[in-house]
Amino acid sequence: MNWPKSQELLAENSKLIPGGLGSLNRKADPVIAFTRAKGSHLWDVDGHEYIDYHAGFAPYILGHSDDDLTAAVIKVMQADLSNYGTGPTREEGELARLFVQAVPHVERVQFFNTGSEATAQAIRTARAATGRSHIIKMQGGYNGHHNTVATNLMSSREQLGGKRIQGDEYPKVPITAGIPPEELALTHAVPFNDLAAVEHMAKKYPIAGLIAEPVLQNIGVVKPQPGYLQGLRDLATRYGFLLIIDEVKTGFRSALGGYQAVSGVTADLCTYGKAFANGFPIAALAGKAAYMELAVSSDASKRTLVAGTYNSHPVPVAAAVTCLKKLMDPKLNVYGRLEQLGQKLEAGQKEIFVKYKIPVVISRVGSASCVYFTDKEPKDWWDILEYHDAAFDTKYRRGLIERGIYHFPVIVKQGSISFAHSDADIQKTLEATDDVLRELTKK
Ligand SMILES: Cc1ncc(COP(=O)(O)O)c(C=O)c1O
Repeated sequence: MNWPKSQELLAENSKLIPGGLGSLNRKADPVIAFTRAKGSHLWDVDGHEYIDYHAGFAPYILGHSDDDLTAAVIKVMQADLSNYGTGPTREEGELARLFVQAVPHVERVQFFNTGSEATAQAIRTARAATGRSHIIKMQGGYNGHHNTVATNLMSSREQLGGKRIQGDEYPKVPITAGIPPEELALTHAVPFNDLAAVEHMAKKYPIAGLIAEPVLQNIGVVKPQPGYLQGLRDLATRYGFLLIIDEVKTGFRSALGGYQAVSGVTADLCTYGKAFANGFPIAALAGKAAYMELAVSSDASKRTLVAGTYNSHPVPVAAAVTCLKKLMDPKLNVYGRLEQLGQKLEAGQKEIFVKYKIPVVISRVGSASCVYFTDKEPKDWWDILEYHDAAFDTKYRRGLIERGIYHFPVIVKQGSISFAHSDADIQKTLEATDDVLRELTKK
């Protein structure tokens, strides 16, 4: 399979857009220019059709171009709703009520446009609440593109000093140029599933907050070990910092109440995006009233600025309201169906990998899963560096794409099933998987 028109489009766009596209995280080999997406399927400019497991980096829990969301958005526009830029709206109030119904452990919610804005606001709030500046994040965790968290994602062995760290922080590995050194000094990346490292940081630095995805879903699906999230909760309480659970990927995907509902561990603040509005640009910061209400504190020295021209824009708000109503509808049973499809895919994959004698760990939470080419379940990023067969993963993803199954072509990127996937889609995916492995194991 080749993609000449996609290449042409990239070259043309690159004359004006550095890199040729709007988010450079989207640039991977092969670059494919898509022209349409409906349900579980994608179409590209070169005339190919795919079953999609990338889901635009995971938001499309209901599938692409959901008819009910489209209708809701059109209705808003035809009713002349606008982004007035003054005063409250009924629609944002309705969304807030639905939100706390879906995620009952949160007391307040505030809407933003992107996950990065929500995590930036969470960190600002933690700093305002504690009067401290240092932040702990996870090696292998992604929490957005802003300075405080733009470090230590898929770092190389060399960048990490060539050795596994336990009970301490990793060397600082910014993922962007332009972070002032004094700001970088405030962020400490620790290994996931390592409570001793967090405690060590809390003793060494005045920590304002710890931000963590509850499952590391930007390096596949790396699960918390039993007791780990509760351990973070306890350390936050003991050392007086805020626990920020970043549910931008897991929220409304692991379960309606996110991974906090699955684990029973609740944060002081939590962030949402992606599946919240099935791909429309809206995000949320939610959590305990004591911290959220700092936005309107009578003490100006504690008051956090919440602002944004497009916050609560009526189009994504309508999409989010409709999305939440569907996710909460017992008749639709979205999560039951997603679990059924997830199980079917996982069981089928397992059988095929056994058939070809390829050791794998399939790590899955509901509709999110990842195949690791190792026999050892990774519990942090270093395990992936050490045990995962990255070269095989690259060939596996390429092989699937060439057979019309789209997984993002970067190692250990999470696959996402949507409510629009059919049993036939899963069956076709398994047939393609069998074919890829037959080719890759040919002597
Ligand atoms: C866990 C997590 N947090 C935050 C973000 C940032 O969200 P956005 O890309 O909408 O700014 C992402 C994006 O992938 C994410 O996966």
